[in-house]
Amino acid sequence: MEQFDVTPVSAKLAEKPVTLLQFARSAGRNMLEVIPAETLRQTYVRGPLNIHYICDPEMVTELLVGGGRYFPKAKFTKDIIGSAVGNGLILSEGEKWRKQRHRYSPLFAARNLPVLSRHFAETGYEVAESLAENEGPVDVSQIAPASTLTNISRVIFSGNEEVSSEQIRVGLIAYFNYISYLSLFDLMGLPKWLPRKKWLSSKAPVTDMRDLARHVIELRRSENREEPEDFLDLMIDALKEDFEDAETTVDNLLTFVVAGHETSANALAWGYYLLALNPEMQTRIRHEIRTVCPEGKLEFSHLEHLPLLRAHIKETLRLYPSAAFFARDASEAIQVKDVKIEEGDALFFPVYSLHRNEVLWEDPAQYRPERFMGTPPPRGQYIPFGAGPRICIGAQYAETEIMILMASVLRRIHFSLSDVEMPEPVLTFTMRTSGPLILNAEEVPAGS
Ligand code: HEM
Repeated sequence: MEQFDVTPVSAKLAEKPVTLLQFARSAGRNMLEVIPAETLRQTYVRGPLNIHYICDPEMVTELLVGGGRYFPKAKFTKDIIGSAVGNGLILSEGEKWRKQRHRYSPLFAARNLPVLSRHFAETGYEVAESLAENEGPVDVSQIAPASTLTNISRVIFSGNEEVSSEQIRVGLIAYFNYISYLSLFDLMGLPKWLPRKKWLSSKAPVTDMRDLARHVIELRRSENREEPEDFLDLMIDALKEDFEDAETTVDNLLTFVVAGHETSANALAWGYYLLALNPEMQTRIRHEIRTVCPEGKLEFSHLEHLPLLRAHIKETLRLYPSAAFFARDASEAIQVKDVKIEEGDALFFPVYSLHRNEVLWEDPAQYRPERFMGTPPPRGQYIPFGAGPRICIGAQYAETEIMILMASVLRRIHFSLSDVEMPEPVLTFTMRTSGPLILNAEEVPAGS
């Protein structure tokens, strides 16, 4: 009998050194194509010019948590995302960053997750309902961002009579389209004569979104609610104690919108795909969810009883880390293990390769959620949310959102592979699918 290949799809990295021109051409489409394939087989690769590719867990830790922890985000990252998120938490440095991090940390505290979970569960319930009513082929690369977009509307932009939810939806979609067009091609400061369609396109979606965010913040402030009901309330509460200027608040609101939308959506889409590829695991996870919450809306308190689902999400973020690459500029010389890094060198963290590195992982290309059921991987080896002081502030928010949405859907819906060819992972702003990811959705009757 023919053996069914259950190896999840992987990206093609650069097998040969790439010239600057090839780099420019490929990086616009897919940044993964210019990351050297050696980064999958070696833990440190010296790139061209002043680039260091780092996949060694000890080096990762020293550079993100130890001596290099205050190295600034790479300038090219700022050049590009800056146009969309301004100088909010993701991009600021030094004292400005420290103050913002301190101001916003309480917003992401575990005690706030139950309130947010109620909104996420509402969305999850609706998505499951709609899939059950429309069984058959579905594009999960569309369904996933639609669910996280609905969550954003619910936790940030809801309850405005003056701004219609349709206006918000259209504004957000235009804004996200603008952002998803951003790529490393622009980040690298390559020759100006190379085509840069996106710079020629209008920045109107950003201006419109900023106006909308400003308006929504003002309206909500004037409501002066007693108990926080959503993320915007929590944000306004945090600012009562520790004020910042209005434009920085707009920067931060948009930072949270940008940082939390596509990243979580990709994890969901890849997560559904991996379960379609591994139906047995899917059934086990469904059983776990049904045991903990057979009907009604999922709640935050259910999540601690879903270890298999949690392990599945961790493994999804290992194989398909949404932030598959990030970088720092070395602001001073540093020696890490036997590698000398000079001031001004570029430190590249190809998370995709670190998570699939042959030296570090057993069966790195295979889906094995059990690897996250026992002792966690060594420090610096698994960093879907980064590490050190700049670690993702929304990590628990994201895990909660993904778990609630996925649990709500999997409880009722079974996904299987379709005949449509699988897309590949591509990396522009985040690591997404190269095209539609079509799976078959089928309702699983309760009790079966
Ligand atoms: C699966 C979902 C997510 C992934 C994989 C992810 C990944 C990351 C990574 C790797 C970093 C560090 C980047 C670096 O060191 O250069 C980061 C930072 C950040 N993330 Fe996330 N993120 C996710 C969801 C979210 C959500 C839901 C929010 C907010 C609602 C968020 C807000 C932020 C912010 C504000 C930072 C900058 C923190 C700082 O510099 O102090 N992220 N994220």
